[in-house]
Amino acid sequence: MSGKIIDGKAISQQIKEEVKKEAELLKKKGINPCLAVVLVGENSASRVYVNNKKKACQACGIESVSYELPEGTTEKELLDLVEKLNQDKKINGILVQLPLPKHIDETKVILAISPKKDVDCFHPQNVGALHTGGKGFLPCTPAGILELIQRSGYDIASKECVAIGRSNIVGKPVAMLLLQKNGTVTICHSKTKNLKEVCKRADIIVVATGKINTLTKDMVKPGAIVIDVGMNRNEAGKLCGDVDFEAVKEVAEAITPVPGGVGPMTIAMLMKNCLTAAKEQA
Ligand code: GUN
Repeated sequence: MSGKIIDGKAISQQIKEEVKKEAELLKKKGINPCLAVVLVGENSASRVYVNNKKKACQACGIESVSYELPEGTTEKELLDLVEKLNQDKKINGILVQLPLPKHIDETKVILAISPKKDVDCFHPQNVGALHTGGKGFLPCTPAGILELIQRSGYDIASKECVAIGRSNIVGKPVAMLLLQKNGTVTICHSKTKNLKEVCKRADIIVVATGKINTLTKDMVKPGAIVIDVGMNRNEAGKLCGDVDFEAVKEVAEAITPVPGGVGPMTIAMLMKNCLTAAKEQA
């Protein structure tokens, strides 16, 4: 038996087409969604991500304004730019690509972004709203994971859900979203005892550790849904996730590949957040 491969590329395309249609309607009403994308320094992976985000904007009919600043940019210069973008009525969303160079305090920069323009959902006000069920943006990767599960026809309510990894970008917020959908949620991490036993009872497993082969076949209940957020390179230089894909797909009901699973969804959900920002600010 081999599980269904969840096609994140196709699902993200569908979402981007929905965004494009809605952006066209907004433009007819005189609302022009616009995202500011800020990249500081020379991180080659970040440059690829930022270029993909700009391309997605173009494909969705969302304007993007790009700021590519040198490695030596000071914290004050970046904070000043963020403040200028906060004040700029033409800009609906502000995305500062992380990680930032070491001499810049990321927390300070995240706090400086107006919560109304925080399309990444990194500002504590939006994170708080996520936890209390209040109004705010949804975090892009976790929201994309929910879309992958739901658009593939699976219900989350009453399911045993396990997140492996407790980062602020994926593990913690995805646990919160799964809880909102009435899943029974466990967050595991590097200090978890009996990880295998915890995973073995899960109906839905989200793996976000950044470590190759975090999840192996012996840890997965037959029929489970497996979402792989990892983005690693193996010894051969091949892109791979945190899940032993070839073996786990033999027992899983459905599984996301790397690449072509969660990755494209993050950007699609960012586009959705840009529309939400433009509508809210109009
Ligand atoms: N770095 C890695 N992922 C992300 C993301 O989703 N948003 C931003 N701003 N930086 C990132």
